[in-house]
Amino acid sequence: MAKQSSVRLAAAKVVSRVVAGESLSQVLPEYQEGLRQKDQPLLAELSYGTLRYYFRLDRWLSTLMDKPLKAKEQTLHSLILVGLYQLFYTRIPAHAAIGETVQVTRTMGKAWGRGLVNGVLRSAQRQEEMLNALSESDDICLTAHPQWLIGKIRQAWPDHWQAIARANNQSPPMTLRVNEQHIKRDRYLKKLLDDCIQASSSLVSPQGITLTRALPVAQLPGFSDGVVSVQDESAQLSGNLLPVKEGDRILDACCAPGGKTCQLLEMFPGIKLDALDIDEKRLARVQENLDRIGLKARLITGDGTQPELWWDGQHYDHILLDAPCSATGVIRRHPDIKLLRKPEDIDTLAELQGTMLNTLWSLLKPGGTLLYATCSIMPAENSKQIAAFLEQRENAELQALPGEWGLDTGFGRQVLPGSGDGFFYSLLKKVKNL
Ligand SMILES: C[S@@+](CC[C@H](N)C(=O)[O-])C[C@H]1O[C@@H](n2cnc3c(N)ncnc32)[C@H](O)[C@@H]1O
Repeated sequence: MAKQSSVRLAAAKVVSRVVAGESLSQVLPEYQEGLRQKDQPLLAELSYGTLRYYFRLDRWLSTLMDKPLKAKEQTLHSLILVGLYQLFYTRIPAHAAIGETVQVTRTMGKAWGRGLVNGVLRSAQRQEEMLNALSESDDICLTAHPQWLIGKIRQAWPDHWQAIARANNQSPPMTLRVNEQHIKRDRYLKKLLDDCIQASSSLVSPQGITLTRALPVAQLPGFSDGVVSVQDESAQLSGNLLPVKEGDRILDACCAPGGKTCQLLEMFPGIKLDALDIDEKRLARVQENLDRIGLKARLITGDGTQPELWWDGQHYDHILLDAPCSATGVIRRHPDIKLLRKPEDIDTLAELQGTMLNTLWSLLKPGGTLLYATCSIMPAENSKQIAAFLEQRENAELQALPGEWGLDTGFGRQVLPGSGDGFFYSLLKKVKNL
């Protein structure tokens, strides 16, 4: 009992720290470490799930309580949300969900809250119909997104916004990228099926395999030898879109943690790749990935908007600009984005992206190509960004993208969150003699 309650307490603390502005990927491991290994998946499920439905659960809670908890009771508030999440979104039996959650009040030294937590959860159980009706009543509750964000999604994608919101609330599949230097995708798929790991080929990425159920990477045949890596199928498009030739010199301008860097090196072993990132700690993860797979790139810590500080003056045949973005295409993998992102971030990011695009353009050879990518679904960061760039640059020409995927925006293609993550790609060629 005590151990199970400590999982709920840890989940409430994780949720509270995210509400206060920290990222889930930073906070969760701290609490995972304090638990037995077998309890760690439950903590992840409760933390991810509560954050995924935070805006709906929070609306429910304000209806279920006569007056809100004081601001200093944030952990207790989060604990009740964790309780509601268990009741309505997991298969945990209601008596266990309520009992374990109520028990936490004692561990927290807030025995006075016992009756309150018990009362709210039991009342939620009795009033399920009312809560469901509430969920239909406005966009925040319906979509479990903040008003500003669902408003922007609705405005950008009037025919798709509800499907996007639903996709954002799904837990994402685990997708692999097969390193075809080691083994062809079909043979690896067969290997998985022989090992009773259910999986299917991606229809979007020629190197992609989607697992029916997520697994620890150590259970994947050949993972430690670099035979496969974990990468969403939409992210895997990048290596398939650049027209790379043997010996080309390439800049991966925002490379960390290195998913796309490694894919380029796996697909085109003869290239010379400079992998740049502003964040030294994140670059260390690129090196780890390169080492695991047995690949080599020149890693550079530097700012893409200030090449005078790191560039050797030799122009590139191709540049991949996987720009820092709002990450609104990957909310299903990072539900904390719904709490952390603020409306003004979109304009700030769009400005940085525009500066990077303009600055890095001068590092490209005439005749070279730049692939602009984001994991955003906001036009300001994607199609509008490229439209503005093409307007300013006479020597930039939009190129057709190969394959059948995504929606054509007129300035690049957008994958909306669904079977894969939401991603935008646009391929630009620097025309010669201008
Ligand atoms: C979307 S992530 C890149 C993901 C990576 N391409 C991959 O596939 O694994 C964006 C990266 O841009 C980096 N970044 C942000 N601002 C930058 C800047 N001014 N110059 C270079 N890198 C920057 C961030 O540190 C982050 O690692």
